[in-house]
Amino acid sequence: MAVKQNMETVKKYFRVDRHDIGFIKFIIEAYEGLAVMTTVDRSRGVVELNIAPGCEAEIDLILKDLKKELLIEAIDFYPMGHGVMEREPMQTEYLYINTIGCQMNVYDSEKIANVLQPLGYELTQNVDAADLVIVNTCAIRAKAEQKAFSFLGRMAKLKKKRPNVIIGVGGCVAQQEGRKILERMPFVDLVFGTHVIHRLPEMVARIKQKRCHLVDVKMYPGIDETNGTSDAPGKADVCRFVTIMQGCDNYCTYCVVPYVRGRETSRRPESIVSEIQTLIDQGVREVTLLGQNVNSYGQKEGLCSFAGLLGKVNAIKGLERLRFTTSHPKDLSEDLMFAFRDLDKLCRHIHLPVQSGANAVLKRMNRKYTREVYLEKIERLRQICPDIAITSDFIAGFPGETETEFLETLDLIKTVEYDSLFAFVYSDRPNAPAAHFGNKISDAEKKARLQALLDLQEQLTIKKNRSLVGSIQTVLVEGLSRKQPDHMAPETESMIQWSGRTEGNKIVNFNWTDDREKNVQEIDTGHLVHVAIKRALSHSLYGEWVRPRAATPDLKGDKSYAA
Ligand code: 5AD
Ligand code: SF4
Repeated sequence: MAVKQNMETVKKYFRVDRHDIGFIKFIIEAYEGLAVMTTVDRSRGVVELNIAPGCEAEIDLILKDLKKELLIEAIDFYPMGHGVMEREPMQTEYLYINTIGCQMNVYDSEKIANVLQPLGYELTQNVDAADLVIVNTCAIRAKAEQKAFSFLGRMAKLKKKRPNVIIGVGGCVAQQEGRKILERMPFVDLVFGTHVIHRLPEMVARIKQKRCHLVDVKMYPGIDETNGTSDAPGKADVCRFVTIMQGCDNYCTYCVVPYVRGRETSRRPESIVSEIQTLIDQGVREVTLLGQNVNSYGQKEGLCSFAGLLGKVNAIKGLERLRFTTSHPKDLSEDLMFAFRDLDKLCRHIHLPVQSGANAVLKRMNRKYTREVYLEKIERLRQICPDIAITSDFIAGFPGETETEFLETLDLIKTVEYDSLFAFVYSDRPNAPAAHFGNKISDAEKKARLQALLDLQEQLTIKKNRSLVGSIQTVLVEGLSRKQPDHMAPETESMIQWSGRTEGNKIVNFNWTDDREKNVQEIDTGHLVHVAIKRALSHSLYGEWVRPRAATPDLKGDKSYAA
């Protein structure tokens, strides 16, 4: 039966990759009037199928076939969420997001802002002006969790003053605690987990209409393939994050991630490339690919390897720099080491968390590598790519860590000579097996070990930074430095300080000293420039802009060289 005007059709809604819309429409409509497809929201890939009466089963078969190759996901129809027909005129309302935790949460918060935009929400930095407040929580350590609850304590007061404000709790603590958050904090309107960001518009719209409380912490096997953050309002940054996979299958015994982010799942390369392309069109110059364990990207799904994905991203026109985090040492392949050498946009910096330098501790942590294997990988990496910057994560005072084992960790730090590191005192996490391990280390001892570790690294960082004094570094300008020199007057415009990062991810603040008019053109946010390093500080470098030499016509992928 052919679809005719005014016919009583069955309407169904789907999310598809927006690049496939034309192709899917062509296939469906090629079947002589079974259904008509219209695009509801191109940027989100939302389409409507008007199916002729009695033709649903046939359409289901066609979709089943297409699904073998393409992303086609049935979605609930929610007019406001997808900005569809008959939308009531919208009033601007304000959304305040408090993001706690890692880069993945930063990305998710952008996605939250993005999906709520069609409901008329604009981001605000002022929580008192907000109509909707969302705290995107982190559960990795007890301290991060406390931060979320203390913010929510403040929100209880806001809610008393302005009962109409909607309070939402998302992220890892929401996933972990679910409904318990409502029981503990009845002023909270919405609790949503890490897998349901795409459902936010529907949930917020329902709360606005019915003033009800909602909890959704369901975990889904797939991954949300929508172009996560590319439409995020108010974003004009040079550097952005792009999540390429979610979840983790490694089950390190101290870690809550597998329980709150679910099983490891990778996005399709095409959807990653398309999101990055959109970001570049908006002025982004550097992307950092995010995953808990990027080295195993695509393996489960039979997609390309991580090195293969880097190759595809490296080829995107307009991208200047590419980074990624985090790598698990056990899965660091030679392919990836060679990618650092061969891909011109891939910054020579790897974050390779080791957690401990003692084999017995690594075993109890279930890290699946030994100190020796880790050191061999570092050596090979430096053979292939001698100037690579290496950073790491450490946990001080893991249950049962002896003084000797801790000294082995200090020894590993001295052996590797990291560029910088992150270190944390061990913290018991719900669900994580180490919470039940015996021989817990006292708080005082954990703190003392953490301090010893940080003191050692500070000396090494200063040594590394000093070794760069006199070199010329390629810096991607991220904007004006937050700390401008004192007594700046308009006639000393050349003293304006700019800020950016080297390939090795070190912050560089710099000025220019001569040739003012021309330099003004050449130094700007998003530009790659050369900076002669003059001073090393403990957390940053200071330098002066220099004109690129004739011998180095192209700054992209340029190596640092001695001045
Ligand atoms: N306690 C302390 N640190 C932890 N990390 C993860 N879980 C814990 C925990 N329970 C640290 C690890 C990891 C980083 C993101 O956080 O070092 O690499
Ligand atoms: Fe946590 Fe280990 Fe997975 Fe990293 S690799 S997210 S530390 S379980």
